[in-house]
Amino acid sequence: MPTACGAQILAPVFSDADAAALYDLLNPWDPARWPGDRFYHELVMDADSVLDVGCGTGAMLACAREDGHRGRLTGLDPDRAALDRARRHAGIEWSEGSAADAQWEAEFDLATMTGHAFQCLVTDTDLRSSLAAIHAALRSSGHFVFETRHPQARAWQDWNPSNASEITDAAGHALHVWHEVESVAGDVVTFTETTARPDATILRIDRASLRFLDAQTLGTFLAGAGFRIEAQYGDWHRGPITATSREIITIARKLSPHGPSHGHNMGR
Ligand SMILES: C[S@@+](CC[C@H](N)C(=O)[O-])C[C@H]1O[C@@H](n2cnc3c(N)ncnc32)[C@H](O)[C@@H]1O
Repeated sequence: MPTACGAQILAPVFSDADAAALYDLLNPWDPARWPGDRFYHELVMDADSVLDVGCGTGAMLACAREDGHRGRLTGLDPDRAALDRARRHAGIEWSEGSAADAQWEAEFDLATMTGHAFQCLVTDTDLRSSLAAIHAALRSSGHFVFETRHPQARAWQDWNPSNASEITDAAGHALHVWHEVESVAGDVVTFTETTARPDATILRIDRASLRFLDAQTLGTFLAGAGFRIEAQYGDWHRGPITATSREIITIARKLSPHGPSHGHNMGR
């Protein structure tokens, strides 16, 4: 299921803090259970310094710290309510802002964008400025790792009320959450996320857009920003991208202005 990012709230009965708490209920971070979480967890635990761009409520970095990560962990997100939730986890730097706002210079070994946060970069301008800022934040030959839903799988076709999630919030209230696609314009899908009571009382509607880049266009953006694709997978078990893949999972390495460097390879 998608989650709204950069969302426009249409019926804000349910607060931003409520929405952030609901996000964690719907998307629990658990490397022991979810192959995608395990994929990132191993990379984070192996890196001395990590910048998680679009960190949301901060679950990935919090889990790494709890599991004994001793290096620098920094989360960046423009959503204040999500970051407020993240700030409950001590020993991690939490910074408010968009990817394009990142001001770090050569400070991180690894940058990540998990939970399809990369797809929140909708315009060419935002993609370019975000990639430039992430590139600058990485040390020489640092890695940028992220996933984007493969457009061939047309994931948005499943985003309809018949696939509603039913969940009980922390206060014991039953909630229904569903999605409805409003438009598909080129590679940008705009949809709403509705949160309601079981009696159909609407609590909140968020609208958001996500971009579905194909692998070739993605490669062009990465190369233009000074990254080389070191490995690309179609699933969380590091299988190749095929005609039925649902994901494009990318490990990209920062190229220095002086040409390719020879740091360790993450592609395995
Ligand atoms: C689906 S959530 C993923 C959160 C978290 N990474 C995870 O895996 O659970 C997408 C996140 O991207 C953030 N986001 C939206 N636009 C962004 C931008 N331009 N730069 C960085 N983060 C952004 C949203 O605020 C949201 O927290």
